[in-house]
Amino acid sequence: MIEIKDKTVYCQTQNTSYWFGINDYQHPVHYYFGPKIPLQDVAPLQRDHVVAYGSSVELGYLYSLDQEALEISFSGKGDFREVAYEISDLKQDALSHLRVTKVFLNDHIDFPKAFFYPRITDSVQQVVVQLVDDYHPIRLELFYTVYEEEDVILRHQRIINEGADIVLINRLMSLQLDLNEQGFEVITANGTWGREAQLTKDRINSGTLIHQSRTGASSNLSNPGLILKKPQICYGFNLIYSGNHYNSVSVNYDGSTRVLSGINPQTFSWNLKPQESFETPLAICTTGHTEAQVSNHFHQFIKNRIVPTAPFPKPITYNHWEGTFFDYNHKKLISFAKKAKECGMDLFVIDDGWFGKRDQDNCSLGDYFENTNKFPQGLKNTIQQIRDLGLKVGLWVEPEMISEDSECYRQHPHWVVGKPNHLRAKGRNQWILDLCQTEVQDYIVDHVGRLIDEYQVDYIKWDMNRHHSDQFSCVLENQKEFDVRFQMALVSILRRIFIERKHVFLEMCSSGGNRFDLGMLSVAQQIWTSDNTDAMDRLKIQEGTALFYPLSVLSNHVSGKINTQTLRKTSLSTRFNVACFGALGYELDLNLCSKVELDEIKEQIEFYKKVQELILKGDFMVTETDNPNRVCWQVKNGKQALVGYFGKMNSGLQPREKLRVLDLESQTMYSIESKPQRLMLDQFGELLKHVAKFPIHPYGSIMNLLSHYKTIQDGVFKTSASGALLAQGIVLNDLYLGTGYHESIRLWGDFGSTLYVVKEIENET
Ligand code: GLA
Repeated sequence: MIEIKDKTVYCQTQNTSYWFGINDYQHPVHYYFGPKIPLQDVAPLQRDHVVAYGSSVELGYLYSLDQEALEISFSGKGDFREVAYEISDLKQDALSHLRVTKVFLNDHIDFPKAFFYPRITDSVQQVVVQLVDDYHPIRLELFYTVYEEEDVILRHQRIINEGADIVLINRLMSLQLDLNEQGFEVITANGTWGREAQLTKDRINSGTLIHQSRTGASSNLSNPGLILKKPQICYGFNLIYSGNHYNSVSVNYDGSTRVLSGINPQTFSWNLKPQESFETPLAICTTGHTEAQVSNHFHQFIKNRIVPTAPFPKPITYNHWEGTFFDYNHKKLISFAKKAKECGMDLFVIDDGWFGKRDQDNCSLGDYFENTNKFPQGLKNTIQQIRDLGLKVGLWVEPEMISEDSECYRQHPHWVVGKPNHLRAKGRNQWILDLCQTEVQDYIVDHVGRLIDEYQVDYIKWDMNRHHSDQFSCVLENQKEFDVRFQMALVSILRRIFIERKHVFLEMCSSGGNRFDLGMLSVAQQIWTSDNTDAMDRLKIQEGTALFYPLSVLSNHVSGKINTQTLRKTSLSTRFNVACFGALGYELDLNLCSKVELDEIKEQIEFYKKVQELILKGDFMVTETDNPNRVCWQVKNGKQALVGYFGKMNSGLQPREKLRVLDLESQTMYSIESKPQRLMLDQFGELLKHVAKFPIHPYGSIMNLLSHYKTIQDGVFKTSASGALLAQGIVLNDLYLGTGYHESIRLWGDFGSTLYVVKEIENET
């Protein structure tokens, strides 16, 4: 609900309030953002201007912009903090003075047309603040779109050139939030390739903390999601944008905190021609008492309003990439497809290498014509055979890129990003296609569209495997427009291909999670979380990603026994127990799996299908444990929860362990049962000599053969408890300590884990 009263705008959502107003100087000032409070006069929230700071600059008696909580800031009139708006004329005259001329409820919802935006329904309202700049002939509009149900406020800005000359936009952030308090911890998800979304917590007491991307994508270096946390209050932000972003948090000398979020001004400027307008991407902001509440608001909003409706249940994917890399052909794929189907998988993805002469990563990007060596009878034939087995089929593409060794490059050398006749940096042996050229956009739309239609694929994995460099396009007058123009073109390409092909399930990928953002999720149902499939590393990667994004969009695969990134050996059960917290897939050489491994995969898939709704629709949270060697995740939906309890390094000295499950009905009784899982015999080494009924070499060929067929049960656990007791913790069964075996002992070793299913016990009447 939005109410405008006496120059104050009250935005009320189900659980939060956002209030701002227009002061006597016609500046938009911030009053309150936090847990919901009933409407009242804002006088107690207004600053009483009774003292002046010695060296400050005043626009009126005791009125200094540097000490005001503003909704939009500009430089040149005494606000010395980082500002949200900076424009100039071509002579670099950058003086500005923004004043509000009008505030009104919009009779329709205006969103930036060149970028993705969320779904709108009746319960959404928008208020617009219109401003003029005394020094430039522009009109600026600040938009606040209120999603009452999801407790989310969207912010964006539009600038219109009403003069006769070009105006240069040097920065225009999507969001500014000035809070009259300090002492926040700033939580972000940073990293790099294979180490995405590592949560970092920085306490900021002075100066400015900047998290940004300059790579041409939201990047694996710094995700655009941001949380500010204090003991009683948290604020959460994110951008619906996939390009270079900039999030800054500054603490001012007067104890206030300014948050700015939007397009990275360091890599941006824009020539705004007469009568033209420029709109920023949308920024999400939300608030709650705790980090978990903010995370939950993000999740609900993304599920309800951003991600295109996905088929449910989601297909369980088989992808051969880690099992083969480029070394595959028709025969190998069919043998995998048969096993994938037997195990219960639904979708078979043919990854990189099916086109051109691509047997390595140094050629053929741009030439999406089937590789006749790998598919002598044609790719259509392979696809048909896979489909005949009862599987859906998907293809990998990397449409924004071009290989030097490709027909595409030989025919269109001028399509490559960068200055002609200069050395252009390559990444993974490839260059970038200049999406700013309309000819290139049409080529991608036609090419990918043709592929989907001709091969009738059900799924596309859209990859993008390098950071941008050499940002120069022969069609641009101002090269600092490159990054944003590239994003606008990408949005337009994706819309043109996928809006009319809604049946295609789209998974985004960028060397794993290099573009895990709300821009991509506006068109794709899920994103490949990381190229790093090591279960232990994934505990951190998935946890960081899941703080900002719901489990339903995290694509996770169970990969081989010895991880190709870390060389770590992890049990099949733990690989699954981690991967199942999201959209599940398998990515290993199925021909190398033993009979018992294939049986276990089959059981895992049967189990996952039963709890998929709980996982993909439920509320996820990380539960704190006393033991730094343990990680505990839970996802809860209605009367059920699934808990993942994971161990890192084992030790014979593990203290007694408690399992806590939160947010259940305290008076209700629940059953708690471990998911059955198998232990492979080859895990026990010489111990087997002591239990075997006949002499056996623990590392010999008979043992090897036996371990293909025999397994033992691990850590069977079953009990019941009330929700209240589960919140305090129930005692778990013992870990193996070297003294005997019982089926309820947890034989975890290093990197062990167990899943627990928690279900409400229906009262018998
Ligand atoms: C990227 C992706 C992988 C795989 C390869 C293929 O690295 O993240 O999943 O598709 O490309 O080249």
